[in-house]
Amino acid sequence: MTAIDPRALRNACGQFGTGVTIITTRCEERDHGMTANAFMSVSLDPPLVAISIARGAKMLPNIKKTGRFAVSVLADDMEDLAWHFAGKPKGDLCDVFERRNDLPVIANAVAYFVTDLATEIDAGDHTIFLGHVREMSLQHERKPLLFFGGRFGGLADPHPAPAMLENAGYEFIW
Ligand SMILES: Cc1cc2nc3c(=O)[nH]c(=O)nc-3n(C[C@H](O)[C@H](O)[C@H](O)COP(=O)(O)O)c2cc1C
Repeated sequence: MTAIDPRALRNACGQFGTGVTIITTRCEERDHGMTANAFMSVSLDPPLVAISIARGAKMLPNIKKTGRFAVSVLADDMEDLAWHFAGKPKGDLCDVFERRNDLPVIANAVAYFVTDLATEIDAGDHTIFLGHVREMSLQHERKPLLFFGGRFGGLADPHPAPAMLENAGYEFIW
């Protein structure tokens, strides 16, 4: 069997289009944020979501310390925030957070989830955190920022036909 090249694996995984989130927590009187696309819904009952954080990220010890994190889903006009929280700080950004349940979340995000840490799983060079959702909100009229093939983009059709989703066994309420 041939070894899997990490860069090739990252490129192949990058073909899986995702939304973009900012993971946030508050630790030692300071707000911390990190851009992440490794986010998924895990369970409806109990309500669990998962994120995956690199071993070297500053966010990792902060979540371990506080035992809490929030996830904000970025809107398509928030690419600046995605860069800002991915280690390319923009000096002119201010007041990007609002407070929910004592955690910072991105103001005007498409959705946010405030969670208590439920489980953490060591996974190679990342740690997967499962969060128990305590509070959430969504804005139907906002469109998400997308990430695909290493680039940011937006939806060409913001309203995919609900009928197709229902046929796939999911019930979506728009
Ligand atoms: C679109 C995008 C998605 C990212 N997704 C993740 C992710 O899911 N997990 C992760 O650990 N890093 C991810 N990163 C990289 C982090 O945002 C970046 O390393 C950041 O600087 C880490 O911040 P920290 O060390 O201050 O916590 C992503 C970056 C971008 C631009």
